[in-house]
Amino acid sequence: MYVLGIETSCDETGVAIYHSEKGLISDFLYSQVAMHSEYGGVVPELASRDHIRRVIPLIKQCLTHTNLSAPEIKGIAYTAGPGLMGALLVGATVARSLAWTWQVPAIAVHHMEGHLLAPMLEENPPAFPFVALLVSGGHTLLVRVDGIGRYQILGESLDDAAGEAFDKTAKMLGLGYPGGPKVSALAELGQPRFKFPRPMTDRPGLDFSFSGLKTFTLNTLQNSEKTAQDKADIAYAFQTATAETLAIKCRRALQQTGLKRLVIAGGVSANKQIRSALLTMTEKEQATLYFPRLKFCTDNGAMIAYAGCQRLLAGQHENLEIYAKPRWPIGELSAL
Ligand code: KG4
Ligand code: ZN
Repeated sequence: MYVLGIETSCDETGVAIYHSEKGLISDFLYSQVAMHSEYGGVVPELASRDHIRRVIPLIKQCLTHTNLSAPEIKGIAYTAGPGLMGALLVGATVARSLAWTWQVPAIAVHHMEGHLLAPMLEENPPAFPFVALLVSGGHTLLVRVDGIGRYQILGESLDDAAGEAFDKTAKMLGLGYPGGPKVSALAELGQPRFKFPRPMTDRPGLDFSFSGLKTFTLNTLQNSEKTAQDKADIAYAFQTATAETLAIKCRRALQQTGLKRLVIAGGVSANKQIRSALLTMTEKEQATLYFPRLKFCTDNGAMIAYAGCQRLLAGQHENLEIYAKPRWPIGELSAL
């Protein structure tokens, strides 16, 4: 079964076609980074307008690239939340309308379920059950995953998400948007000079907090000469503290659940130092680390097509309403 996936929850228009037996056939992405960088962050209204401009041409491109005609598409998956309301509505409306026109089912996909299942697109996908660390711009979640839709939240951020902390640190350091990759590039020039706290690691539990780290970063910057080397050393200290904190919590989650498989996904999982800290930790724990290829760490249509395809195969689909949910706890999803 060919499934078209549409992702428009934030600042990337992603479209892909996934086949239930053949796997991923095609995926295209248009990133709005250049447009938003002028404003130092995502401008929701501009994001929605740009999704409107890009989504149909990307769908056409996907169909042309695969030589598929519309009647061969047997289902349409779209990101219904969480995300920016206007942006979500673009994908939801286009998906629902195409499904109506082509007389095929449409399925509303949870964006974080898409991220969580992205490693399934790789050659050696993880078997269930596993622990997943989901780290994006809006979420930091540790989840026990027993199957699709069988999610038990083990821990989450009590304040800023990990990606948000990267974005705010970038702003403080004058690096602008998008923050994560910029902090990461600057950190490569940094020296181990400052020691930043590893928040909430000195007490039991699997929750996170990144706002204290943000304040610590700001204070360190203000007390420095603000030279280029100071900034690089601060970026390095921030990234190291974040990577170690995530590794400590993931180790705890593996020990607590007794599981030996860890998945990392979401935009922040593209970070090299974080991947390497988690790799070292999982090797010590005799566990295996799974992550998506770099381009599927950040937002994309492929993960939505995959997640939607699994739910459609299980017989799920939406009724005729246009379904968009800016806030949507992942624990509310139904199990397959
Ligand atoms: O998953 P994603 O593309 O969108 C959301 O669902 O939020 O994640 C975007 C987040 C942003 O906060 C961005 O700064 C962060 O992921 N990010 C990174 C890196 N690449 C993207 N953070 C750290 N290092 C990176 N290389
Ligand atoms: Zn995302």
